[in-house]
Formats: sequence, C-alpha cells, structure tokens
Amino acid sequence: MKSFFCTALLCAALSLAGCATDAALPIDTSADADIASRRNPNPNPQPNGDERLAGGATTVFLTDEDAFGQPAPNLSPASLLRHNQGDSAFGAEFAAIASAGHPGGLGPIFNHTACEGCHVGDGRGRPVALSGEMNSLLLRISLPGMAAHGSAIAVTGFGGQIQDQAVAGVQPEAKFSIVYTEQPGSFADGASYSLRMPQYRLQNTYLPFPGGALISPRIASPVFGLGLLEAISEQTILSFADPDDRNNDGISGKANYVWDVQSQKLVLGRFGWKSNQPSLLQQNAAAFNGDMGVTTSLFPDESSAGQLQAIAAHTPEVNDVTLNAVVHYTRTLGVPARRNTNDPTVQKGKEIFNVAKCASCHIPSMQTGTIQNVPEISNQPIFPYTDLLVHDMGEGLTDNRSDFAANGREWRTAPLWGIGLTSTVNKHTFFLHDGRARSLMEAVLWHGGEAASSRDYVRKLPKPDREALVKFLESL
Ligand code: HEC
Ligand code: HEC
Repeated sequence: MKSFFCTALLCAALSLAGCATDAALPIDTSADADIASRRNPNPNPQPNGDERLAGGATTVFLTDEDAFGQPAPNLSPASLLRHNQGDSAFGAEFAAIASAGHPGGLGPIFNHTACEGCHVGDGRGRPVALSGEMNSLLLRISLPGMAAHGSAIAVTGFGGQIQDQAVAGVQPEAKFSIVYTEQPGSFADGASYSLRMPQYRLQNTYLPFPGGALISPRIASPVFGLGLLEAISEQTILSFADPDDRNNDGISGKANYVWDVQSQKLVLGRFGWKSNQPSLLQQNAAAFNGDMGVTTSLFPDESSAGQLQAIAAHTPEVNDVTLNAVVHYTRTLGVPARRNTNDPTVQKGKEIFNVAKCASCHIPSMQTGTIQNVPEISNQPIFPYTDLLVHDMGEGLTDNRSDFAANGREWRTAPLWGIGLTSTVNKHTFFLHDGRARSLMEAVLWHGGEAASSRDYVRKLPKPDREALVKFLESL
C-alpha cells in the first residue's frame, strides 16, 4: 500500500530528480542483448532502454519501506483513482460480517484477513521459523496425478489448499509447522555455508489427511510490476523457450499452459511460482477465494464447498467493480529504479551474472506489448530479469506437484527486479518459493537442474567475485 501523500505529481518530480543526477552516464546494454541472442537465434529485439528505469515509465525512485507500494508515476488521474480504490480493497481487513472499515465475506475458512497481510508492503512474505501462525506462507495440497486439463487433483474434504484459519463456529482445516534440517556445503575456496531444507507437518487436521497427498509450500510474492509482466506478448515469452534445448546450453525453459476460467481454455500461464495462473484477474479472484474465503463472480463458490462446513450459496461477496479495481492496482504499482549502476563492484557483478548464464533464465530486458485501455504499462522497455517460463530446478527444490505443464521440479524464473530492496521493505532476506533461503547467496546455492552449472560456476568464484555478484543483485 502506498503512503497517500506521494501523489503522481510528487513521484514524477522525484523521478525527474533521479534522472537528472546521472542522465549523462553511458548505458551499456550490449551484454544483455548478447546473452539473449544465445538463447534464441531470432531474439525479441532488445529495447534500448536505460537499465535504471527497471519499469520503463512506471519506474519509481523511492528506496525506503514504501518502495514497492507506489502507484506508477505515469497514471492518468482516472487511472490513479481506480488504483487507489484497488489499494483500499487490497489493504482492507475483511471480517465475516461487514462493519465500519471492514468489508464482509471473510471465510468460513481462510489463511489471512487481508491481501496485504501476506503481501506485506506489496512485497514478499516471510516463513515462520517453527510452529505458529503461518501468515504469508500457504500450503497447496494435491493427490498425485492430474485432473481435467492437467490441473492438480484436489484432496477430498480439503480442496487445493490448507486454510489454517476459520471464522467463529467453523474448524480450520489444519495447522502446520516447519522443521528445518541444515545441509552443510562449501565453496571451492573452502569457505563453508549451510542450506536449510524445510519439512512441513500438518497438525490438528479437522478430518484425517490422506497419506499420499502432496504438499507444496508457497510464500507470498511481491506484487509490483505485474501489469508489465501481463503486457509482455505471448510471442516474446515463447521466443525465450527452448523446451528441447536445441541450442545445447543445458537450459531449456518451457511455457506453462493453464486453465483460464473465463475463456474456458488452456492459455499461457504467467503468475504464481509455477506460472500457474493466466491473468491478474484470475490470480486475484483465486486469492480472494482461496486465501480469504471471499467469493467473486469468477469463483462464486466458497473454498469450503464440498466440506461439511460449507455454507449456502450466496451472491459474490466482492463485486466486479472492486475486483477490477484490485486487478488495476496490481497492474499499476510502479517498479523501483535500479540503484548504484555505476559502482565498479556492481558492474563486475553484472558481468559475472552474464558469464554464469544467470541471464539465460533471468532475462534482463524486453519490451511490453499492449494491454487495452492501460497505456501506462503498454509498450515499455522493462528490466524484469525473468523469462516467465518454468525450468527444472533440480531435486532440492522439488515439491513433486504438477501444476498443468509444470512438473514438481519446475518453477517460474523469479523476476529479480526490486529484489535488492527486500530487506528495506520486508525487513528480512528470505527468498525462493518457500522462503527457505536466508540470503541472496543461499538462493543461488539452491539452484540445481538446468541451473546447476550456473550454481557450480558461483561455487568456484573467489570471495570478492561472489560478493560482487551479490552487490549486483542488491542493485536490482
Ligand atoms: C495467505 C497469504 C496470501 C493472501 C491473503 C493473499 N496472497 Fe497473493 N499470493 C500468496 C502466495 C503464496 C502466492 C503465490 C501463489 C502460487 O505460487 O501459487 C501469491 C501470489 C499472488 C499474485 C501473483 C504474483 C506473481 O508474481 O505472480 C498476486 C497478483 C496476488 N497474490 C494477489 C493477491 C490479492 C489481490 C490478494 C487479496 C485478494 C492476495 N494475493 C492475498 C499469498 C497470499
Ligand atoms: C535455469 C534457469 C535459471 C538460471 C540459470 C538461474 N536462475 Fe535464478 N531462479 C530460477 C528459478 C526458476 C527461480 C525460482 C526458484 C524457486 O523459487 O524455487 C530462481 C530464483 C532466484 C532467486 C530468488 C528469487 C526470489 O524471488 O526468491 C535469485 C536471487 C536468483 N534466482 C539468482 C540467480 C543467479 C545469481 C543466477 C546465476 C548464478 C541464477 N539465478 C541462475 C531460474 C534460474
């Protein structure tokens, strides 16, 4: 949520100030273009954008704890008004029965009372160390195999997600806890590190939980810049894919195709840790439903449907005007500008990022296409550091769960823009889909599968080069 005093005008003024200080500095994007061309003989033309303007014209220049929660500075007055309406709903604490300041419709079972309760400061959630309220982590659950269209098979009596909270008179489906086991390792120079492997346990299940069911933990991900990701053309994303690894670089990358509830067909997935949602509309409506027990026209049945504690059918608890405002909000949050691009250590780190082939998946730059009626995010050069494809990340990160075309080992390349501001906004540095990594370096060391050679390259680097790589990531 933005602090309301930062109006579009003020943000524009800030961005002008930001540009003015180093406007004359030369920008070199040739290395990025070179990497992309290695992935594909006919790469999407790389935009000649200024890499500091990570979100094109939506870039914001705040570097404090509100950095992820600003409206894009280029919003028209009408667009900003809708953004602010969406912001209110995103920040609102829902209650079972509406009262002043609290929209109704929460539950009967849920994970949190507010979108922002998990997407803290429009950024990422943190896992809880041991047992306790899970807050921003949720557990997707499924039975082995695939249901219609390749979707995961729901667990009878529990659905597709454990809701660990409930309104009065209703039982939460279960509580859960995490146990971490340390796995020691070392860099080539002998310096040691340790990675913590999580294990999830369900407790107090309201019904016996089937033995073979799969559990896929997911931490709340940042929500800024998502409209830009939605605006990237399908053709551009497919140009990054190389499912059969024809160029023999060990990195394939494939598009996930997921069920679109509105059009009733399989379409390209872009959102969620496995690119398991096709659009911000469906992602957000699914979040209202699954995470908060709030129904919409897209998902009119309560998430407790099929349970003994189901409640009678009723009209959608959030109407289309509000749902669309929330969609507009998640489309139009500005992206923080890159920082320290002229620091020699950062530049060294960027070189390592390219040589280590990180940029083969975390594709630095591309151009957005057009989203109708949202010119602010359309046709922008952007620097998201993702290809939105899913990649085999090895056994260490597997959740064994298939999500449409993505198998248990496959995850969406996480966008890296803004990642260096995580500690400022979210007061922690837990990364990856379940927050198991305690630092950026631990996140890199967890990479396996298609990214194993990148990880091994980093393991062999001398300490100053490892530090430069981290400095570069912190500049994003
Ligand atoms: C219980 C915590 C929780 C709550 C509450 C929650 N989310 Fe999320 N959100 C998540 C998790 C976890 C993911 C990743 C889901 C996945 O990978 O399947 C996510 C993903 C998203 C994404 C996609 C981000 C991306 O990078 O692809 C959007 C957008 C989003 N949520 C919006 C919302 C909105 C809007 C609400 C309120 C209606 C909301 N969320 C409520 C936990 C939460
Ligand atoms: C084969 C594709 C691929 C390559 C190569 C790759 N990554 Fe990743 N990266 C991913 C995927 C997929 C994830 C998400 C994994 C997860 O959450 O389980 C990720 C996650 C990350 C994260 C954590 C992001 C977050 O939001 O939690 C960081 C940091 C990162 N990568 C940095 C790097 C660096 C640095 C390199 C090079 C040394 C690299 N990656 C190479 C695919 C790749």
